[in-house]
Amino acid sequence: MRNQSDNTSLPPSRRTFLKTTGVVAAGWSWAAGSRARAAKLETLAIDGGPRAVRIRGSKAWRWPLYGDLEEEAMRRVLRSPSYAPLDTLERDWKHHFGVDFCRAHCNGTGALSAMFFALDLPPGSEIMVPSYTFFATIAPMRMFGLVPVFVDINPQTLNFDLEDARRRLTKNTKAVLPVHWIGLPCDMDQICDWADEKELIVVEDACHAHGCKLGDRYMGSWGRMGVFSFQMTKPLPAIEGGMGVYQQRDDCDRATAFGHYKKCFGKYAKYEGSGMATKLRMHPLAAELARLQLVDLEPRNAAGVRQAAALNDRLIQLPGLLKQTSGRTDIQRLHYAWNMLFIDEKKAGMSREAAVRALQAEGVETSTLAYPLQHEMPLYHEARWWHHKPIIPELPGSKKANAWSLPLPYFTSEQPELCDQYVKAFEKVWAHRDKLGKV
Ligand SMILES: Cc1ncc(COP(=O)(O)O)c(C=O)c1O
Repeated sequence: MRNQSDNTSLPPSRRTFLKTTGVVAAGWSWAAGSRARAAKLETLAIDGGPRAVRIRGSKAWRWPLYGDLEEEAMRRVLRSPSYAPLDTLERDWKHHFGVDFCRAHCNGTGALSAMFFALDLPPGSEIMVPSYTFFATIAPMRMFGLVPVFVDINPQTLNFDLEDARRRLTKNTKAVLPVHWIGLPCDMDQICDWADEKELIVVEDACHAHGCKLGDRYMGSWGRMGVFSFQMTKPLPAIEGGMGVYQQRDDCDRATAFGHYKKCFGKYAKYEGSGMATKLRMHPLAAELARLQLVDLEPRNAAGVRQAAALNDRLIQLPGLLKQTSGRTDIQRLHYAWNMLFIDEKKAGMSREAAVRALQAEGVETSTLAYPLQHEMPLYHEARWWHHKPIIPELPGSKKANAWSLPLPYFTSEQPELCDQYVKAFEKVWAHRDKLGKV
């Protein structure tokens, strides 16, 4: 935690957020019926009634939340430019997460590229990876002759589906690469057990999961290597930046040699000066931002989880509305970018399309989001870009995720009034769902 004097320099929304979130949905019940009846008497905004959401929301999802500490740190680097902030960040990271080896890279994509290089697998080696992810989890494999094997996700966790992975195992499978999507930890205990049994390497894309845990183990440290992004929207934002975490010194040395021509250690020392053709060093300004954002990372994550729960605990009482969850109680998650809900159209008694239209009219920031699936993109279908072509099966779970997602913004500061207004908007829409557009 920041000390008291540090805390005074946080912007008010961030300071208040850390202190006071945790509103409980006590005493609220849609099932009791009276709220449903009251909501039914109101006219939907889509039919000309007043909007339920009157607070214009963009401040509620303002991010990143920088303050005086960050501004002062930027000035310090500008007054006396050096690369020392990278060493300081790496020192603090190792200390915070209890890891022996890490390297600051220019972004998550660079850290992932260096990780694939560090794997040192022969061309044709297959790596199982979800399609429901950002390109950087997959596309850099191309440069090393690695073969992405697309694995499905569970549509309610949006995470790696181990059952599907079991079906995709071949003699060429060498590694699995789960992604902890928008801060929900994958079942790394089960994935690692299976990988051990099959002698597969586990590596993690923890670009959304800074400070998240399964049991008492941080995400990014379950696998042999793990990667984080510090891009501006991320839970630990440095505008641009990334970190690789390594269990083994040789992986760290190899990943470092790939993009840090002045840090060639161990058996890679001879490449100092020539490097390996890329330059992936983090910017010192970013390193300072990341170092400062690390200080209150976990209380900030926890406040975000309480904030989302205060809203979701009420919303998921509505028929057919669900939240992103693995159902596990032994995890510490975070929220990032979206507060992802899902609509089961049959149980809700209306189509997603109709619900979204009515909710938008009420002032709710939502959409019929379809996250771009990597396996559908031209890059993975054109042989000319690949040493060995990607393996692209049917992915019904990924499709389902895109068919039933109902994303809300992740409120990054405490927003009790806005939450009440969102609840009211959902109640109004659900109360009128019989006439809103049948499934
Ligand atoms: C899951 C995932 N992996 C990797 C990355 C790449 O990180 P960066 O943007 O820092 O290169 C991102 C960034 O959006 C991401 O969402």
